[in-house]
Parts: sequence; structure tokens; C-alpha cells
Amino acid sequence: MSHIVVVGPGALGILFSVRLSKAGQRVSIFDYRPDRAEYLNEFGLKLLEGQEEVWANPVVFVDPTEIDAPDFVMVLVKAHQTEGVVRELKAICSEQTLVVSLQNGIGAGEILKKAVDEKNIFLGTTTHGANKISWNQARHAGAGPTVLGPLMPQERLSERIDRFVQILCDAGFETKAVCDIYPHLWKKLLINIAINPLTALTGLKNGMLLEHVQTLRLQEMVLKEAFTVLCASGVDLGMDLDGCMALVKQVCEATGENVSSMLQDRLNCRETEIDFMTGAVLNKAREIGIEAPINEMFTNLIRFNSKTKWQQFRKRLPEYPDNAL
Ligand code: PAF
Repeated sequence: MSHIVVVGPGALGILFSVRLSKAGQRVSIFDYRPDRAEYLNEFGLKLLEGQEEVWANPVVFVDPTEIDAPDFVMVLVKAHQTEGVVRELKAICSEQTLVVSLQNGIGAGEILKKAVDEKNIFLGTTTHGANKISWNQARHAGAGPTVLGPLMPQERLSERIDRFVQILCDAGFETKAVCDIYPHLWKKLLINIAINPLTALTGLKNGMLLEHVQTLRLQEMVLKEAFTVLCASGVDLGMDLDGCMALVKQVCEATGENVSSMLQDRLNCRETEIDFMTGAVLNKAREIGIEAPINEMFTNLIRFNSKTKWQQFRKRLPEYPDNAL
């Protein structure tokens, strides 16, 4: 039995914690909120798998120093919350702990380096979808492959990552490890930049982006620009621009009824992951000295609508004359 710490009891955190516990692993959860941790410890976690309810009772900790050194840590907080768990990760991890981030976008891995030796960091993408219903309940919304790879691409993979891949497979997650994860991360990021900011700005569900000429055109523009930036900086996506556009269309159709994670953040006045999505494309463009005005525009529009700005704006609303609304 391995000891796995899940950092962040969001929808994916509940999915992985419940399934790994049921597969016989020792799972602990780190949560920074004492009230939620107390609730989760009292009532346990519930995962809805179709009609079936699956319950598990992993121990939830607020104090990271109370957690026994784990074999593996799964970082499942939002990308922009990574900085906020650096201190806790330092306290949780030993030299032997392998840290796996399944966070959206590009950039969280660099932040994790502040807490953990880079040779112990693995990044990944998962196509599993889960929706949070309440503090301790989530619904498994869709299954698909999970791919993991080292932060620094390597020629050979270690036995430890092979062991973790096996643990995830045994818990029902179809998983593989690759020597270079970046083409997978960038491909997922292209899907996210063509869906998330547009849904957050328009309020549309994913599938509806395909129903309007304006949103279709904007998807095409943001993708084309990001594709050009990535090609110019030597990222091999293993597909051409038409392939990327077809992939985005396929994901919009497959997740047609989804409210994207960024639209959910926006509706709940939360910070978004934009800096790790179009912001990451912008960083890449700056590294090689080219402009990426469409990605820059989306980054700024969403940043402007960030939690604080949106709340300030809402506060100011009553001051507008009626006819200005
Ligand atoms: O962030 C999200 O919501 C998801 O990654 C995706 C694929 C856009 C589906 O909603």
C-alpha cells in the first residue's frame, strides 16, 4: 500500500481520493480551510459514478506537518493557487516523495520547483471530468486517458513513476507515462485557450461556441496565433493547425453541455487560470521576441474581470444612473 496525499479537495481531488482509497491505497488530503476539513472528516467523501454512490473516508489535514511523509503527492489545486501551497508542500514532501501535478495550463511546474526537487516533479493531463456538487460530493462526468511525464523531459522513465502509473490504472484511471509531456500539455492548452476565455466572456456553454460565427472566428484567431507561436519556438504538437481546430471542435461537441472551468470561476467571482493559458502563450511569444496580440487581448480581458475587479465593478453598479444599465 502506498501513501498518497491529495492537495486540494476540489472535484478532481474527490474523484482521485475516493477511487484511490477504494483501490486500497492510504489517502490523506491537505486542505487549507479548517471548517471544510472538519466537515470532510466528519461526513466523508461521496463520488457519484452514474447511478452508484461511492463513499470513502480519507483523513483530511489542515496542518501539513501532521501528515506522514507520503510516497506520492497529487497537486490538484487550481494553477493560480500553486504559489499558495508551496510552503505546505515543503512541509509534506520528503526527498523520496514524487509530486504529480494534473493542473491546467503551463506554468504550475515552475512554481512547484520552489517546494520540491525538480527530479521529483511530474506533470500531466487528464481527460477525466468531475463536477463538484457540495464540499464533500462530486459527480464523475466523463472518463478518458491520463498522461504523465517528468518536468524535465528524460530519455528513460524511473520505476517510481511506473509504480504510480500502475496505482492509477488499478484505481480505474487509464494512464501512461511519457518521456516528454510538453506536446500533451500544449495540446490541452490549445483546447483550453479556444474554449475557456471565450465561454467566460460570453457566458456560453462549450457546445454553443460552435453555433455563432463570431465565437467560431475568435476561436480560429486565438488558435492560429498560438499555433504560430508554438511552432516558432520549436514545440512539436504532432498535428497541423487544421488538426488542432478539428480537435477543439470535437471537444466542444463532446463537452457541449459543460460550463467551462473558467466560466464557473467567473460566475463565482473567483480568480481564473488565464495566466497559465493564454498568458502562457504570451510568455512563450515574449521569450522568442514575437507578438501575440490576440492571446494578450484575452489575457487582459479576463484579468480585468478577475475577482477583485469584478467585485469592485459590482459595488459601483448602483451608482450608475438607471438608464445607463
Ligand atoms: O477547463 C475546462 O473546463 C475543460 O478543460 C474543458 C476541456 C475546456 C471542458 O470544459
